[in-house]
Amino acid sequence: MSDFQTEILTPIPAHAVYLHCCRVANADQAHIIAALKQLSSQLSDKTVVIGLGASLLDFLNIQIPGMHAFPDFSASHLDMHAYETDLWIWLKAKERGELFHTTQQISSLLEESFRIIHQVDAYRFQDGRDLTGYEDGTENPEGEAACECAFMHHDQAALNGGSFLAVQQWQHSFAAFNAMSAIDKDHMIGRRLTDNEELDDAPESAHVKRTAQENFSPEAFILRRSMPWSLQDHGGLYFTAFGHSFDAFEAQLTRMLGLEDGIVDALFQISSPIMSSYFWCPPMQQGRLNLSALD
Ligand code: HEM
Repeated sequence: MSDFQTEILTPIPAHAVYLHCCRVANADQAHIIAALKQLSSQLSDKTVVIGLGASLLDFLNIQIPGMHAFPDFSASHLDMHAYETDLWIWLKAKERGELFHTTQQISSLLEESFRIIHQVDAYRFQDGRDLTGYEDGTENPEGEAACECAFMHHDQAALNGGSFLAVQQWQHSFAAFNAMSAIDKDHMIGRRLTDNEELDDAPESAHVKRTAQENFSPEAFILRRSMPWSLQDHGGLYFTAFGHSFDAFEAQLTRMLGLEDGIVDALFQISSPIMSSYFWCPPMQQGRLNLSALD
């Protein structure tokens, strides 16, 4: 049986919902830990990933080495909109109706300890494309490399198999995107829309040039599991990156923001993050979350 949350590795589902929850004001530490244990056992037959925020770990007086709140990127003029929440739940399903029922179940299960304060509905689009139509995830590590990249290796069982998760809800401006020529769109991403071919002659601001994982020292591999989201006439990418630390994500975001060389990722022409947060995804033990780090 795996010592990590296996749903981190599985392919993007047809439908998903992301739930951001905050502690109820009068819930004490014992209440919170009991609720997390109950959540883990009640959802053991569901396709789900669970993450705990730095604010929750602080409240519980727990130190997870490498865990911290979303960093301050204010040296860049681009606002990252850090948004601290205590608990993060990624529910996946083949059908939307299943998500509705499981969300209701979670909401009543957590009633006395957590409240859902932000909910994002997401889905698979054209077999793994962003809403712009560009294929997302091509350069993701796979198999052993994915495990190496996404999970912490530690001699303590309470930490071994844990994962550090960076979440950013990006909202696209489709007016800006649709106004671009086909070549400008391809140069913004650094790949061709029609066949996903990488473009050597793309400018340095091209997204895949900014984030090319081998071009960092040390190499900065992350496991991306992002999904398109939309609400009425707004939409974009709910970006998620899992790592054995936050270092690779932070190195990439630093470069996207142009903090090293002044070259800002061209993606910012059409999209910006409206919410950014960090979570620690605990390891597993015998089919349940291993929450022994909280004891
Ligand atoms: C609006 C938000 C974003 C969109 C639409 C987007 C889209 C894409 C697309 C289409 C690709 C090319 C195919 C692929 O390899 O997946 C890509 C690659 C990549 N993106 Fe993003 N991305 C977004 C945000 C981010 C952020 C915030 C990061 C990290 C801070 C990031 C990291 C990467 C990495 C590491 C690659 C692969 C680069 C390589 O090694 O070739 N992306 N992204």
